[in-house]
Amino acid sequence: MGEVDLSVRLGPLRLRNPVVTASGCFASGREMARFFDLSTLGAVVTKSVTVEPCAGLPPPRMAETDSGMLNAIGLQNPGIDTWVERDLPWLVDQDVPVIASIAGKTADEYGLLAKRLRDVPGLAALEVNISCPNVEDRGIVFACRTGATAAAISAVAQVCDLPIFAKLTPDVADITEIAHAAVDAGATGVSLINTLLGMAIDVTTRRPKLAAGTGGLSGPAIRPVAIRAVHQVRHALGDVPIIGLGGACTCTDVLEFIMAGADAVAIGTATFADPMAIPAAVEGLTRWLRGQEERAIAQVRGTADTERTA
Ligand SMILES: Cc1cc2nc3c(=O)[nH]c(=O)nc-3n(C[C@H](O)[C@H](O)[C@H](O)COP(=O)(O)O)c2cc1C
Repeated sequence: MGEVDLSVRLGPLRLRNPVVTASGCFASGREMARFFDLSTLGAVVTKSVTVEPCAGLPPPRMAETDSGMLNAIGLQNPGIDTWVERDLPWLVDQDVPVIASIAGKTADEYGLLAKRLRDVPGLAALEVNISCPNVEDRGIVFACRTGATAAAISAVAQVCDLPIFAKLTPDVADITEIAHAAVDAGATGVSLINTLLGMAIDVTTRRPKLAAGTGGLSGPAIRPVAIRAVHQVRHALGDVPIIGLGGACTCTDVLEFIMAGADAVAIGTATFADPMAIPAAVEGLTRWLRGQEERAIAQVRGTADTERTA
């Protein structure tokens, strides 16, 4: 049985395997290091950090749904200064590429965050979470508009040479249009998808289950939406690096994303139920590949035969 190659390229980055953490689902990394060696991961994508510290939204902030979960955490984080001084140094010292996620309320804030991170030694890339309300445009999410997408991404690209991944929301009519705008503005690649905006109501109290009313839907319920988004963007944008995510739990789910066109795949919500979900998926990929003609997982990318009908 010959050796198999799990390594993948994400633009200029080389990951030892395609399975990475999803922003916001991995805390600062130290907690997970108790469960497994972080070098098992393709990369760590950190929780989105903002310019100022943020306490997040009031509880309840999570609600279980059928095959998924709603959350309205509200980007709780210590703010860029504390994060860079307190949390990041430990993580960049681990044997794993670190992709730092940033979130802003204005295009200028994205630029400020990128400036603060550009000289941090050991950082592999930035993920620019543009699924955030733009306070300069009536709170409309950046990634719902091509203009705001371009403004946020170019604010980052102008000040920072790190590879940039634009994290997009699926709550749009045409995600390929937004992906184009992000890449044209300087994004190296895209991360697809963030949560879908959802709502659940407790029929006893007649109140929303989340204090914020609405929240982001994640978990297996959204995987078909994510697979569709990855497939559409892969076909519309050719070779652009894609991190696929949304409901991936197992090795089979990771393969589904890769066959749809993802280069790497993030696992988020599944790690709350099973902290070992990522190492298990990596092991599963190795086993699966041993039974295939391809010797390298990179060769599997985009191989879903979408011409064939069932
Ligand atoms: C509790 C929680 C917190 C999250 N925080 C962030 C965040 O800070 N930044 C971000 O870009 N996405 C955040 N996300 C979205 C995830 O990174 C991911 O895009 C989404 O949950 C879909 O993947 P999943 O179904 O594997 O969780 C969060 C998701 C959850 C469930």
